[in-house]
Formats: sequence, structure tokens, C-alpha cells
Amino acid sequence: MISALLLALIPLKHVGAASKFASLNATLGGRLGETRPISEPCYEDSASDACTYVQENYVNSTFRGDVYGAMMYCVEPVWETCFATDQGCVLNYKDPTDPTPWTTQKCEIGSLSSAYLAVESPEDVQLAFAFANSTGTLLSIKNTGHDFIGRSVLKNSLALWTHNLKNISYNATFVPEGGQADVSYTAITLGAGAQWYDVYKFADEHNVTVVGGYHPTVGASGGWLMGAGYSVLTPTLGLGVDRVLQIKIVTPDGVYRTANEYQNADLFWALRGGGGGTFGVVLESTILATPQLTLQVASVSFNSTEETARNFLKLVIDNGVKWSEAGWGGHTYQNSFISVNPLLTHQEALESMKNASDYTLALNGSVVIEELPSFFAFFEKYVPAAEAVVGVHPVLGTRLIPTSIFSNEAAKAQLLDAFAAMIPFATVDPQINAVTPLLYNHTEGATSVLPAWREALWQVVFAAEVSWNATEAEKQEVFSLVDSLTQPLRDIAPDSGAYMNEVFIYEPDFETAFWGANYPRLLALKHKYDPNGLLDCWHCVGWQGAQDGRYSCYPDFS
Ligand SMILES: Cc1cc2nc3c(=O)[nH]c(=O)nc-3n(C[C@H](O)[C@H](O)[C@H](O)COP(=O)(O)OP(=O)(O)OC[C@H]3O[C@@H](n4cnc5c(N)ncnc54)[C@H](O)[C@@H]3O)c2cc1C
Ligand SMILES: *[C@@H]1O[C@H](CO)[C@@H](O)[C@H](O)[C@H]1NC(C)=O
Ligand SMILES: *[C@@H]1O[C@H](CO)[C@@H](O)[C@H](O)[C@H]1NC(C)=O
Ligand SMILES: *[C@@H]1O[C@H](CO)[C@@H](O)[C@H](O)[C@H]1NC(C)=O
Ligand SMILES: *[C@@H]1O[C@H](CO)[C@@H](O)[C@H](O)[C@H]1NC(C)=O
Ligand SMILES: *[C@@H]1O[C@H](CO)[C@@H](O)[C@H](O)[C@H]1NC(C)=O
Ligand SMILES: *[C@@H]1O[C@H](CO)[C@@H](O)[C@H](O)[C@H]1NC(C)=O
Ligand SMILES: *[C@@H]1O[C@H](CO)[C@@H](O)[C@H](O)[C@H]1NC(C)=O
Ligand SMILES: *[C@@H]1O[C@H](CO)[C@@H](O)[C@H](O)[C@H]1NC(C)=O
Ligand SMILES: *[C@@H]1O[C@H](CO)[C@@H](O)[C@H](O)[C@H]1NC(C)=O
Ligand SMILES: *[C@@H]1O[C@H](CO)[C@@H](O)[C@H](O)[C@H]1NC(C)=O
Ligand SMILES: *[C@@H]1O[C@H](CO)[C@@H](O)[C@H](O)[C@H]1NC(C)=O
Repeated sequence: MISALLLALIPLKHVGAASKFASLNATLGGRLGETRPISEPCYEDSASDACTYVQENYVNSTFRGDVYGAMMYCVEPVWETCFATDQGCVLNYKDPTDPTPWTTQKCEIGSLSSAYLAVESPEDVQLAFAFANSTGTLLSIKNTGHDFIGRSVLKNSLALWTHNLKNISYNATFVPEGGQADVSYTAITLGAGAQWYDVYKFADEHNVTVVGGYHPTVGASGGWLMGAGYSVLTPTLGLGVDRVLQIKIVTPDGVYRTANEYQNADLFWALRGGGGGTFGVVLESTILATPQLTLQVASVSFNSTEETARNFLKLVIDNGVKWSEAGWGGHTYQNSFISVNPLLTHQEALESMKNASDYTLALNGSVVIEELPSFFAFFEKYVPAAEAVVGVHPVLGTRLIPTSIFSNEAAKAQLLDAFAAMIPFATVDPQINAVTPLLYNHTEGATSVLPAWREALWQVVFAAEVSWNATEAEKQEVFSLVDSLTQPLRDIAPDSGAYMNEVFIYEPDFETAFWGANYPRLLALKHKYDPNGLLDCWHCVGWQGAQDGRYSCYPDFS
């Protein structure tokens, strides 16, 4: 009996990608793509023009975003590679012309799926769900490939790639389907492949402001949106999940649905914080647009020592509540910050930031406090310059820091010590993000986002780096370091949580850390809309667990 069963299974296991997908490919008119890792040309002929182009654009996120066989990060963990076995097809990110990779390794498909479908319509997704359901083929969903913990790749899966859904449209009187015509919004509708730079540019052309991510190529409707999605404007204008008005999605039961507060309201709630890759494939989202804003921008930076960095972080901790209550949102590092404020006048901004400018000027640093006419003007002037190339934020740790701890001197001292512990590591980069919806009046119960977001002053995050060819032992060392640097932050705020999109790969008790009390309802909705479990991703709602065969490319860590 047993051997007959096994025999029956063996042929299936040996069917190559091409024949396994042949019938689907035929149904799709040959639109199923065969994956080529982005660095393959260098392994084939390192003297070719194609290789030179890859080398020159290795850390260019626009180039990477346009190719299915590329993820955003080109340093460890390179989600293009099978992280656990090192099989992959990468270059040395510090020097893409270094011949070591292609002279010592084979080009392999790594964690990437071998076949992908550039989604064009809801029918494409319905076809893929039906195919997966009847053949047992695994599915993955990729938008930009920015995900830090590998949720947009899955070895041996059929990948649904939303990148080409680029439509963007404006409507000054948008009414969610099923709603009353007299309750309308100024809104922008985005195809699921739209990326923030294009959305900001479009919004500016229509003289409105939208709330989105800090990297020009992060996607607007995928993991960013469904995972919470913060902006430097979030302190006053809310999270991405607070501002989405409608989502069109094919759920894994095969139904194309419109989710908003009037229709599929339970699904809409789940999509507003439950995370990407879980409840279906989003085709488009419609987000609220706000009138054009005049912004005060404060940018300070200085050349630091360990001591001046520590004192700067102390000043930021001591002024943090005051600044956020005044409407500032932004990103702070150990010797710089960039913050924006839509509430203050220029004079008020100068006064509000005086402590920081005095400190910085005393160290001969640079201080700019200026007024700009729009968010797009700010983004164009500051963000590309501030933005590190893709690839410098590999293994992350994070925590949401509640406002309540700032009235407790002992807790503030612990927080400073937690940052100070990171400064000595040349490869660890602490970041304080004042991006929580502190002043935003949200509707209670409208989203499934971790409730700790509403109580937090900051999201704190840091990144540790490892080399392109790190050994297993070196990887484990980085994991241990990240875990041990995160622990004091967890201890300071044990009842808070973590931002699921910028998190340690092995965050303990992730269900509680990412969703808190919302988890049980999210899990019930996962079962309702994905009854056959066609979608699964690492540390997502309903996750099957590290022992599931899907996750063989994640190294063990405990
Ligand atoms: C340089 C950089 C800057 C960042 N800045 C910010 C920031 O300012 N604010 C912030 O909040 N976050 C930020 N992030 C984190 C970002 O929100 C996450 O990386 C997010 O997962 C990216 O979503 P994506 O859709 O672009 O990426 P992907 O990696 O393509 O997808 C992420 C997840 O969403 C799923 N998904 C994607 N598209 C769909 C879809 N159409 N339907 C269903 N599921 C889908 C994928 O399966 C995967 O699980 C930043 C990340 C990077 C790398
Ligand atoms: C699908 O068919 C096209 C056209 O024949 C072919 O070029 C492509 O490689 C096929 N895709 C896969 C995954 O085999
Ligand atoms: C990045 O890549 C895109 C697309 O390939 C290209 O148009 C752009 O010029 C590149 N940017 C830089 C800075 O080279
Ligand atoms: C999946 O298969 C089950 C039967 O095994 C069927 O009831 C269901 O409708 C299928 N779902 C899809 C999306 O095809
Ligand atoms: C995108 O917009 C064009 C032009 O308005 C329209 O024809 C097309 O159907 C849209 N595509 C999607 C996927 O919505
Ligand atoms: C805007 O939305 C309204 C209400 O849903 C609709 O009647 C109108 O046609 C839309 N306008 C545009 C330009 O799409
Ligand atoms: C843009 O919007 C702002 C704020 O609503 C308004 O004051 C300004 O007149 C608008 N500009 C144009 C060109 O419409
Ligand atoms: C840091 O020091 C370098 C070299 O002295 C100088 O060029 C740079 O302007 C300084 N940066 C800041 C922010 O003070
Ligand atoms: C900020 O500066 C003012 C005076 O300039 C001082 O009174 C105050 O204590 C400072 N606050 C902090 C938190 O550093
Ligand atoms: C700042 O620059 C001045 C003038 O060059 C110099 O005298 C002073 O020592 C510098 N201060 C610091 C903290 O570097
Ligand atoms: C939130 O609501 C309070 C009380 O209604 C109001 O004073 C405040 O201005 C509102 N905040 C924002 C950012 O709209
Ligand atoms: C990693 O590659 C570099 C060259 O890029 C080489 O010098 C180093 O020895 C390699 N390390 C390991 C562990 O293979």
C-alpha cells in the first residue's frame, strides 16, 4: 500500500517547472514568465554588456523593482538566495565587479519562484487560485520585493507579481461602492503596483497630499498599506490603514470583492492592519487625499563621537513628547534628524527646535529649518539625499515605545542605555521614528492594526549588517546580536509591540507583538476568506510554522 502510494507521488515531484505549469501557461496565452535571477548575466558572461548593466545598477531600486527575479536587498539576508543553504545568484554588493561570486558559485534560483505571472486582471488571480487549489501548487505574492523578512518570495511557488498594475486616478467626489452619494471624499485610486514616488508626484499635480512611505519605490497598496504603513505625516494625518477608503481584492476562495465600510466590512477591517500576503491579492486601493500642506522642515546633523551621540539621543528623549505634541514627525539617527511639521508657523518651528539647533551648532554641525510649500517639495529635496541605497538595512530589530514611559525617569534612562548599547557597533544603525498617530483622531475599532500604535510615541528600529558571503556561524552571530539589542526595548515596553514590516525575522510571540488583542478575530477571518489555506507567509496571520516545508530557506534560530 505504502509503496504504491509513494510511487504514485514520485512522478509529481519530478515534474519540472515548465511542464508543471504548461497547461496554466497555455490558458494564459504564454504569459507565465520563467524566472531569471537578476545577476545571471554575470554568471553566464561577465564581460557582457548585460552584466555591466547589472553591476552598475546593482543597488538601484528602480531597476530591481522592474525585474521579477530581484528582491530589494542585495546584502544578507538576500531574499533572492535560499538563505539557509546560500544557493542563489548574487554579486558582492560592496563591489559588484568582484569576480568571486561567479568564479566560486553556481547561479541558482534560490528562494525565487521558478514561474511568475505579471497580474493584469482579477481573472488572472482567480485562475491562479483555482490552479493552486486543484494542483497543490504553492502561491506567493510579490509587489516591489521590499519586505524585510522574505514574505514576497517562496521557493517552488507560482508567484503573482502585481508590479505592472500602475494605474493612478483622482476623484474629488469619490463615494465608496454601496455608500451614500452625500458622503464623498477627495481620493486617489491606485493600481496595486503603484509606488510611492509616482503617487506623490501625481498627488502634487492634483494639488493634494497623501500619506505614504519614505522610500520612493515602496509599494502603496501591498505590504506597506496592509501592515499599518507609516509616514512622517502620520502623527497628524494617521496611518495608511486609517486613510484607506476601499480595497479591491481577489480572496483565495476565488471571489473578486470590493471591501469598504459598507461591503465586506469584516474583510476591510482585516486588510487594515492584518498584513500583506494573507487575505488575497489586492488589485487596487483608494486612499484619502488631504489639501496641499505647507510644511516646516527641520534637518540637523553633526559629526559625532560616542559621547556626543549619546547626549544627542538624550536630548531627543527629553524633548520627544514636546516635539511630537507640537506635530513633528520624522526620522532621527545618532547624529542627525529630519522632521516635518504641518501645524507650526516658521517662527514657532524655530522656537520649538531651539534645543536641537543649539546643541548641533555648538558642535559645528549643520542646521536647516525651513518652510516648504508641499510634501512633494519636501520629498524631492530631502528624501533621495537621506535615503541610503537599497541594501543597507538587512537584519532588523524594532519596538513601539509607549508615550507613558516618557514620564518615568528610570524608563527614559533605560531607553537611552538601549540606544547607547548600539552605538559602538559600526554595523548597527539605530533609528527613532516619530511616526505614530499621536494627534490623529482615529475611529475606534475601524482597523485591525496593533492597538499599541495608538499609545506609542515612537517606533524604534535598528539594522545590523552582514557580508554577502557570511558563513552560517556569522549569520547566527548577527541574529543573536539583533535579538540581544532588541531585548532591552521589549523589557522597557513589555505590553507594547512591534511593527510587523520592519521587524526581527525571529520575533518571539509574533502574533501578540504584531496584532495584540486583534489576533483571534484576524485568524477567524483568515479561515473565512482562505478556507483551503492557499496563502501563507512567514509570521503572517495563520502562519503554518517554521517546520512547514515552505520555510526550508529560513535558517533555524532559537
Ligand atoms: C527602504 C525602505 C523604506 C521603507 N520605508 C517605510 C516607511 O517609510 N514606512 C513604512 O511603514 N514602511 C516602510 N518600509 C517597510 C515597508 O512597508 C515593507 O517593506 C512592506 O512590506 C513593503 O511592501 P511592498 O508591497 O512594497 O513589498 P513586497 O515585498 O512586494 O510585499 C510585502 C508583503 O506584502 C504582500 N503583498 C504585496 N503586494 C500585495 C498585494 N497586491 N496583495 C496582497 N499582498 C501583497 C507580499 O506578499 C508580502 O507579504 C520600508 C522598507 C524599505 C525597504
Ligand atoms: C510560457 O510560455 C511562453 C511562450 O511559449 C514561454 O516563453 C515561457 O517560457 C513559458 N513559461 C514557463 C514558466 O514555462
Ligand atoms: C536606475 O534604474 C532605472 C531603470 O533601470 C534607470 O532608468 C535609472 O537611470 C537608474 N538610476 C541610476 C541612478 O542609475
Ligand atoms: C478548492 O477546492 C475545493 C474542493 O477541494 C472546492 O470546494 C473549492 O471551491 C475550490 N476553490 C477554488 C478557489 O477553486
Ligand atoms: C487602467 O486605466 C486604463 C485607462 O483608463 C484602463 O483602460 C484600464 O482598464 C485600467 N486597468 C486596470 C487594471 O484597472
Ligand atoms: C468619482 O466618483 C463618483 C462617485 O463614485 C463617480 O460618480 C464619478 O464618475 C467619479 N469620477 C471620476 C472622474 O472617476
Ligand atoms: C492648492 O491647494 C491649496 C490648499 O488647498 C490652495 O490654497 C491653493 O490655492 C491650491 N493651488 C492651486 C494652484 O490650485
Ligand atoms: C563632518 O566632517 C567633515 C570633515 O571634516 C566635514 O566635511 C563635514 O561637513 C562635517 N559634517 C557635518 C554635518 O558637520
Ligand atoms: C530646552 O531648552 C530650554 C531653554 O532653552 C530649557 O529650559 C529646557 O530644559 C530644555 N529642555 C530639554 C528637554 O532639554
Ligand atoms: C567649531 O569650530 C570652531 C572654529 O573653527 C573651533 O574653534 C571649535 O573648536 C569647533 N568646535 C567643535 C566642537 O568642534
Ligand atoms: C482631534 O479632536 C480634538 C477634539 O475634537 C481636536 O481638538 C483636535 O484638533 C483633533 N485633532 C486633529 C489632528 O484633527
Ligand atoms: C567573502 O568574499 C570575500 C571577497 O569578496 C573574500 O575575501 C572572503 O574571504 C569571503 N568570505 C568567506 C567566508 O568566504
